[in-house]
Amino acid sequence: MILLTGGSGQLGTAIRSLRHDLVAPSRAEFDLSRPGELSDRLALIRPTAIVNCAAYTAVDRAEDEPDLAMVVNATAVGALAEYAGGAGIPFVTFSTDYVFDGRADSPYVESSPTAPVNAYGRSKEQGERAALAAHPGALVVRSSWVISATHRNFVTTILERAATGPVNVVSDQLGCPTYAPDLAAATLAAFDTGATGILHLTNQGPTSWYELARTACNLAGIDPNRVRPISSGEYPTRAARPRYSVLGTERLPDLGLSPLRRWDEALESLIGAVSRLG
Ligand SMILES: NC(=O)c1ccc[n+]([C@@H]2O[C@H](COP(=O)([O-])OP(=O)(O)OC[C@H]3O[C@@H](n4cnc5c(N)ncnc54)[C@H](OP(=O)(O)O)[C@@H]3O)[C@@H](O)[C@H]2O)c1
Repeated sequence: MILLTGGSGQLGTAIRSLRHDLVAPSRAEFDLSRPGELSDRLALIRPTAIVNCAAYTAVDRAEDEPDLAMVVNATAVGALAEYAGGAGIPFVTFSTDYVFDGRADSPYVESSPTAPVNAYGRSKEQGERAALAAHPGALVVRSSWVISATHRNFVTTILERAATGPVNVVSDQLGCPTYAPDLAAATLAAFDTGATGILHLTNQGPTSWYELARTACNLAGIDPNRVRPISSGEYPTRAARPRYSVLGTERLPDLGLSPLRRWDEALESLIGAVSRLG
């Protein structure tokens, strides 16, 4: 059985709907904030592969809890990778566009140098390193701006707010929105090819949070003019964010895998799924 951590999250939920040969313990049963306990739990589960979707993902809160973010996103990832390496089983974990500083003006590829600007990004960068150091055959999938119909995220929040009034959205940060079911399917396809190392998987973009919000409203039948553009300076957040975190890939074609579809096509699927979920 494959061990799936973070099975209750956006991505874990999408993976669970595609694969059934999984054991997906809850956070209480398999807590990455206590990495010292993981090897005993792993010895009991005896997985045939590990897919790690669990993470400390609260980007702003990580500024106040950097140690906890580092334990969950780096120390525990290293422990999982070490077990997988020792057992000779595949290991997949996820990372983020926030490992980059956002000063580029063309897409970041897998070999681009990392330089995170916030605590969350630093913990994910350390997690990448820990995974690859402990298990040279690990697959580290970097993605960005993950959205879904099943969980609260940027798009679902915007739809809720714009349904009742105007909403200000940052227009000067660019990235690639990624639909969790598309990311799940692409990750499993990459996993099946035996891909290792860092791989960028996102829906094709780029766009801004503002354009994403407008397009989501449009597709959901809400007046897109309720979305108003503001600058990052007008919307201060606890954690700094990269202005440009567009991910490109120099590896996907060599793996024989197709690029993911455009972000706006994926968004149409998300809006359809939101309305079906009621
Ligand atoms: N969301 C994004 O925009 C984004 C962008 C780029 C990369 N990523 C990466 O993609 C991966 C999946 O993200 P996601 O959007 O699916 O995140 P998510 O929806 O926030 O889910 C996080 C999952 O991790 C679990 N978790 C949190 N702390 C844990 C702990 N101490 N021990 C065990 N489990 C713990 C959560 O469990 P509970 O349900 O119990 O809280 C949940 O199942 C992560 O590696 C994330 O860094 C996400």
